[in-house]
Amino acid sequence: MPTLLHVDSSMRHEGSRSRALSAHFAEAWQQANPDGTVIYRDLAADPIPHLDLTAFSANFVADDDRTPPQREARKLTETLANELLRADEIVIGIPLYNFGPPERAGTTANPGYATHSANSASTTSASSTPSSPWHARSHK
Ligand SMILES: Cc1cc2nc3c(=O)[nH]c(=O)nc-3n(C[C@H](O)[C@H](O)[C@H](O)COP(=O)(O)O)c2cc1C
Repeated sequence: MPTLLHVDSSMRHEGSRSRALSAHFAEAWQQANPDGTVIYRDLAADPIPHLDLTAFSANFVADDDRTPPQREARKLTETLANELLRADEIVIGIPLYNFGPPERAGTTANPGYATHSANSASTTSASSTPSSPWHARSHK
């Protein structure tokens, strides 16, 4: 069963063009995939915190040894990672704010959703706990 991940990021809910466009795509997709599942995430209504050391370091600690904040952060990382991994197709409504996407959507310079989700590059094998997060991040 195909899955679409539909993400919106405009601060506007009324009159948003990017939301209208992504909704248009999602509707057409649902018609073409009547048995498909749509996962919806609204980054304005439900903002994702920036990736911080708590969330990042949680990847390298065994579950039992995580602090409560690490556990909480890790839960979010896994949720976002699973949404991405489940998706066969992704549509993201992104307005342009000051020559870039909204911070909540994320870029290299302005980490948000993208960076937090990418935090999970190592999370699908969550049980492994590399000795150093900094070395573990260099993928070869
Ligand atoms: C704070 C702010 C900054 C913006 N910066 C740009 C910009 O740099 N370039 C541009 O073409 N449009 C810019 N716009 C216009 C928006 O991209 C445009 O209104 C868009 O439709 C907003 O998305 P939405 O309709 O989904 O809310 C900006 C709008 C706002 C509110």
